[in-house]
Amino acid sequence: MWKFRNPIKHAIPETRWPTAAEAAESLLYQPIRIGPVEANNRTWVPAMVPWRATEEGFVTPEVLDWYRRFAKGRPGALVVEATGVRDVPSGPLLRIGHDRFIPGLRQLVETVREASDGETKLFIQIIDFLTVKRRPEKQKYFERFLRVEDRHRHALTDVTNDSQWTDAPELSVREFLSGASDEIVEQILDARELEALRFGYRENVSDMHLPHVRELPQVLPNIFAGAAGRARDAGFDGVELHYAHAYTMAGFLSALNDRDDGYGGAKENRVRLPLEVYRMVRERVGSDYTVGVRFLGDEVIAGGNRIDDAIYFGVEFARAGFDFLSLSKGGKFEDAQQPKVGQAVYPYTGQSGYECMPTVLSDAAGPFLRSVPLVSGIKRAVNEAGFKTPVVATGGISTFEQAESILQQGQADIVGLARQALADPDWFIKVKLGRGDEVRRCTYTNYCEALDQAHRPVTCKLWDRIELDEPGISTVDNGRRRLLAPE
Ligand SMILES: Cc1cc2nc3c(=O)[nH]c(=O)nc-3n(C[C@H](O)[C@H](O)[C@H](O)COP(=O)(O)O)c2cc1C
Ligand code: SF4
Repeated sequence: MWKFRNPIKHAIPETRWPTAAEAAESLLYQPIRIGPVEANNRTWVPAMVPWRATEEGFVTPEVLDWYRRFAKGRPGALVVEATGVRDVPSGPLLRIGHDRFIPGLRQLVETVREASDGETKLFIQIIDFLTVKRRPEKQKYFERFLRVEDRHRHALTDVTNDSQWTDAPELSVREFLSGASDEIVEQILDARELEALRFGYRENVSDMHLPHVRELPQVLPNIFAGAAGRARDAGFDGVELHYAHAYTMAGFLSALNDRDDGYGGAKENRVRLPLEVYRMVRERVGSDYTVGVRFLGDEVIAGGNRIDDAIYFGVEFARAGFDFLSLSKGGKFEDAQQPKVGQAVYPYTGQSGYECMPTVLSDAAGPFLRSVPLVSGIKRAVNEAGFKTPVVATGGISTFEQAESILQQGQADIVGLARQALADPDWFIKVKLGRGDEVRRCTYTNYCEALDQAHRPVTCKLWDRIELDEPGISTVDNGRRRLLAPE
């Protein structure tokens, strides 16, 4: 986990919870229109991957249990985890790239409807991602993965002062590099090859030499539209297009996108594919269906997007007709820590990862409400441009006072609680009933995030070891962790 140089340990803020009457009068518990649907209140559980799908991407009983548990707490809206739009293997992450996934997803919709008595609106986040491979052993990389080219031979000639390398056989080049020092390797490989050696091979949207990357603008609108159509068929109240963090669509928006085909460079070009995807999705699902977007208020990486870019994108998204704008921050590969050999790079291990899921070991500003200035800047610009598109703020929000003050000050229209909802899925109903003092408060130390990084079923440290002898509960790790918060 990335840390500030001299971190300050912040306490969880003291708070006064509202009475039931105060909650009933609050803005937080007033209904809000989100495109064609109306949510009962302005609370929101953003997408969180719990690692409970099958290896083939199907909904499992554990997936149903996970969302049922959130639905019982009755947030205004619940967003199902990032779900793959393509029909390709992606480990135990949900998928929606083929009609065979619809029955399981329909069951998920019914489960949430039933558990919340229809009170919680259910959206699904749909995502595309490019190939990320595990970090290889050095020897394996040079034996199998590096594509030996003449430029390597020329570089070897220069570095060793030995002209024989100019037409050396491939095998000799591989053998030499396998045993070469880091210093020599650095002079022979280019930046992308060094990254593949040290972090694992990773594609990005500017890899125009790869035909499938070059063709993304031609294929993605249809793939997203297909996925959105299935979401509608399965009964979801809407879809959230995942344009945030380290994934394909965020890559198009990124200031680092230097594609030369009209989809990179200036921000007008970078937003082109995200808008084309939106239009095709809209055409497929119709105007009476909620289509929202999650994107970054700041990428928090060198050369990446800042608030000005995000303001531009937010206004363009609103103008295009998105029904909500959900903001996140950071979560990029570019500044991620080097993974161990055999592991894949995880986009939440650098400073941008910190900003995505801030912990109590922070700078003076602390982890709470950290993204609110970005969100309010974007909301202001969207509103000033004449659009009323609801804007969702998430990041270190855990108390009613924080949430209500964001709404009262007009900094956002809806308030998202991710880790706090994981720590206590009943937050929403407890606060509404005037029982806020019973809330199990998230400590923002990211045990859950470490499980996500290890691709293990996500649970919360505050409840996964209690009442393990409760009859009928599901557990993992030989019965040492329960999968759901106690009722
Ligand atoms: C275990 C875990 C999984 C997450 N998975 C997703 C995801 O699938 N899609 C997404 O946009 N954000 C994901 N996030 C980020 C959250 O939605 C949220 O933006 C972040 O945790 C900050 O909000 P918080 O401070 O309320 O937790 C995940 C966060 C956690 C802790
Ligand atoms: S594991 Fe820690 S950070 Fe995650 S939800 Fe629980 S208390 Fe919060």
